[in-house]
Amino acid sequence: MILFGELCLFRYKDYLDEIPVIAAPLADYTDYPFRYVMRKFFQGLIFTEMISLNALDYDDEKTWKMIETAPQEKGPIGIQVFGGKADVAGRAVSKLKRLSPQVIDINFACPVRKVIKIGAGAGVLNEPERGLEIVRAVKENFDGEVSVKLRLGVQSDTVEYFLERLVHEGISAVTIHGRTVKQMYSGIADRRRTLELAKQFPIPIVVSGDVFSSDDVNEILEGGAEGVLVARGMIGRPWFLTDAVSASRKEAPLPVPKISEVALMHMNKIIECYGDRGLSRFRKHLAGYAKGFHSAGKIRHELVTAKSFIEVEKILKRL
Ligand SMILES: Cc1cc2nc3c(=O)[nH]c(=O)nc-3n(C[C@H](O)[C@H](O)[C@H](O)COP(=O)(O)O)c2cc1C
Repeated sequence: MILFGELCLFRYKDYLDEIPVIAAPLADYTDYPFRYVMRKFFQGLIFTEMISLNALDYDDEKTWKMIETAPQEKGPIGIQVFGGKADVAGRAVSKLKRLSPQVIDINFACPVRKVIKIGAGAGVLNEPERGLEIVRAVKENFDGEVSVKLRLGVQSDTVEYFLERLVHEGISAVTIHGRTVKQMYSGIADRRRTLELAKQFPIPIVVSGDVFSSDDVNEILEGGAEGVLVARGMIGRPWFLTDAVSASRKEAPLPVPKISEVALMHMNKIIECYGDRGLSRFRKHLAGYAKGFHSAGKIRHELVTAKSFIEVEKILKRL
């Protein structure tokens, strides 16, 4: 069993005062191999993919593997969970205690239909009372920091009432993705509104949405948020996490590392973890890395159509 670290050392607020940057939970991306690569560039808080509380409750082996292969290295880890039932949440979270993650984050933001259908993710925004029961169950069964991730609302901005209640429940921090459920990932995140909320509420608020550059990081932190969540901005570009921390300290970014070497390191971890069946998983990341190469279109095509890891390796070693 891999332990993530010492619970007593991590306090969300103190952490954000020092490192106001968090690496986002990204389903199907932030697995162990990607987290391993991210750690090379970032000692801050890294999240797992979102983990089903139902699946943990019935001890689904694949789900445990998604968490337990986390890196045994310095740096805090958060486990993000989703589920629609408080009793299940309580039981499942008490099983996570033995891993000693620093944070458990409850996902009330996911807009995917099959998640909403079980009353989880953003489904909770329509029934805040049920969401609060889930929060209580998690807090009762976990001694570390408990945070929540939200969107601005379902169709429109209705999150304020829920935020007030979450503060009352003693939640440690809230991440707000500045889109509504209806928007999914389209359109531009409403940064102005998330920053208004950050200034309005007396708990650490981490802003998410369209964080792709040092200017984005500065705008969010100078706009009154305690933290910034890096999400799509780190796909194929995990060194952006270092840049984000540098920006928060008003330091210049470090030179971009050799992208093909980062991609190869990532590939080797994927092979170690999944064997040959990891290729389709790696293709998504390759599409991201390829954006950084000269003549990106041509190389991207070669990389994402390569039939084996050996072929991918040959292409990467040429770059
Ligand atoms: C492929 C993908 C997977 C995601 N998975 C999760 C997830 O598991 N949990 C979660 O809270 N948010 C998830 N998100 C949302 C991100 O964490 C983030 O809030 C969102 O992408 C907005 O930030 P960005 O515009 O900077 O990418 C996901 C987003 C993407 C694109």
